[in-house]
Amino acid sequence: MNYAKIIGTGSYLPRKVLSNKDLEQLVETSDEWISSRTGIHSRRIASTHETVTSMAEIAAQHALKMAQLEPNQIDLIIVATCTPENFFPSTACLLQHRLKIPDCIAFDMSAACSGFVYALATAEQYIRSGAAKQALVVGSEIMSRVMDWKDRNTCVLFGDGAGAVLLTQANEPGIIDSQLGASGTEKDLLTLPTGLYDDAAYVRMNGREVFKMAVEAMTNSVRHLVEENGLTVQDIDWIIPHQANIRIIKAILTRLNFPMDRAIMTIHEQGNTSGASIPLALDQGIRDHRIQPGQHLLLEAFGGGFTWGGILLKY
Ligand code: UT7
Repeated sequence: MNYAKIIGTGSYLPRKVLSNKDLEQLVETSDEWISSRTGIHSRRIASTHETVTSMAEIAAQHALKMAQLEPNQIDLIIVATCTPENFFPSTACLLQHRLKIPDCIAFDMSAACSGFVYALATAEQYIRSGAAKQALVVGSEIMSRVMDWKDRNTCVLFGDGAGAVLLTQANEPGIIDSQLGASGTEKDLLTLPTGLYDDAAYVRMNGREVFKMAVEAMTNSVRHLVEENGLTVQDIDWIIPHQANIRIIKAILTRLNFPMDRAIMTIHEQGNTSGASIPLALDQGIRDHRIQPGQHLLLEAFGGGFTWGGILLKY
């Protein structure tokens, strides 16, 4: 049986820090409102010469170094992004070119903030079936370029960054199970148009409705994954949730009776980096040695679509 196992992770965050105090100069808001309602204190903003691909490349290089793998050993690249440079060529193809990989499968995944979980679950299927041996899965986002900087409902929430994971074929898990879901009925509650059919290529959100659904879907997904696999929530060592709002994370963990200090948090200094938030948090937990080999991890995401998903794995 082929399983997919994580052998490397990496991150990239742009240098520029945008604090809540800085945002007070842009829109009618306050540090107090943003930190108490969201948990966010600051976020990173990409410079004009940075792209989702340049950020993805640095995150991927760090993951390759950790895994002690050469780029040409990768046979599948999936990039989760909702802020690509082009419709085509895909960010995955641009990344393949930068990494000088002569031939491999490469495509982007579009599932908003759930994109990384969708991409990781897809890469796992390739490895399980034997269609790929080594997969590079990246979440990379420049959310600052799709913000309406006059809309305080959204512009205070998001940030930029990239996270990468390398998967390889293994005899034991690795990824144990995944659960993905979507509901297009709520398509209008969280949107980012292309700009081709209307002028506004900005994120718009009905925050309250998104909040409620995010808590419900992610809580159910955790319960489903542990029960399906004969575990209890107490068997999970670390939950790595999408970082949209600390109050969403707290609400989920309270419902699950799971301690806050067993969840990896990056929201305070990164804000919501959409598809990049889970691999960024995972990399942080691995590099600061909180996450140890053999531990059970649960990655959980929710985003526009609506889309959601969870991955249960043994690190
Ligand atoms: O990553 C994809 C998934 N995204 C999410 O999961 C985000 C989900 N939603 C949320 O995190 C929260 O709903 C928000 C952080 C977006 C908003 O928090 P809230 O507690 O739900 O606030 P609200 O939208 O109910 O607004 C409360 C008040 C409103 O004023 P009134 O109508 O009560 O007078 C807003 O106009 O806060 C006002 N407000 C602000 N005030 C200062 C909204 N944004 C701001 C702001 N600064 N930036």
